[in-house]
Amino acid sequence: MTTGTQTAQPGATVAVRALTKRFGSRTALDRVGFELRSGEVAAIIGPNGAGKTTLLSIIAGVLDPTEGEVARPSGTGRFGWVPQEPALYSKLSVAENLRLFARLERVSDPEQAVDAMLAQTGLTDRAGEEVGRLSGGNQQRVNIAIGLLSEPPALLLDEPSASLDPRQRERLWEFIAGLAERGTTILFSTHNVAEAERYASRVLVLGDGELLFTGTPAELERAVHTEDRTPGDFETAFVRFLHDRGH
Ligand SMILES: Nc1ncnc2c1ncn2[C@@H]1O[C@H](COP(=O)(O)OP(=O)(O)OP(=O)(O)O)[C@@H](O)[C@H]1O
Ligand SMILES: [Mg+2]
Repeated sequence: MTTGTQTAQPGATVAVRALTKRFGSRTALDRVGFELRSGEVAAIIGPNGAGKTTLLSIIAGVLDPTEGEVARPSGTGRFGWVPQEPALYSKLSVAENLRLFARLERVSDPEQAVDAMLAQTGLTDRAGEEVGRLSGGNQQRVNIAIGLLSEPPALLLDEPSASLDPRQRERLWEFIAGLAERGTTILFSTHNVAEAERYASRVLVLGDGELLFTGTPAELERAVHTEDRTPGDFETAFVRFLHDRGH
């Protein structure tokens, strides 16, 4: 088993090969493999328990696979990780949280990285506020700022929009689109399949630990051959796709 030490092929930022994760007798991931290009925005969708969080955690390097490997471009550090439940220190300020994580991650110039992240995530005005007093949207920004501290080639986000109101959600996706335009590869999970269709150029469908589909949202719709479906209704196509494959 090797993680993170392998080099991705030129052009690929994230390369996942035959990843398997077993928890006791339960197989949470079963030989999952795919590659993501630089600046690509991809969504992982699939029912509860499909393995989305497990897959993201392994790619992020916070969980070891049972078998298989994750490759990064040569010379780069860990991928950025934005877990669903942020591990923030609520009594510390925004800047103090960022400084702490910058040191933990051994960022070469922590002060400069903290200032840059505050500016990039629009938190400069909130730098001195206690994290516990921030709105959910702003806490999510701190969470993302931490994921970006070491300027990773890819950012992994687990259900990043789940607790956000529609306005904060839109701001999140604008921010993510900007990151992708500047070359950061984005991989996120969501239960909001309309969001996956709208913001991802590629969807990865997981069901019971198996990668059932990878392609564009339009390709997924075309993979479902049914007459009783309104064309362009991605959610219905997705549910139908899972059903057809026994999920
Ligand atoms: N630490 C663990 N110990 C044992 N089983 C686990 C552990 N973590 C996850 N699992 C199991 O692995 C499977 C995949 O879980 P995972 O959390 O990755 O799914 P998910 O797709 O993220 O689900 P959700 O949509 O509910 O967030 C589930 O069957 C889950 O119960
Ligand atoms: Mg999950």
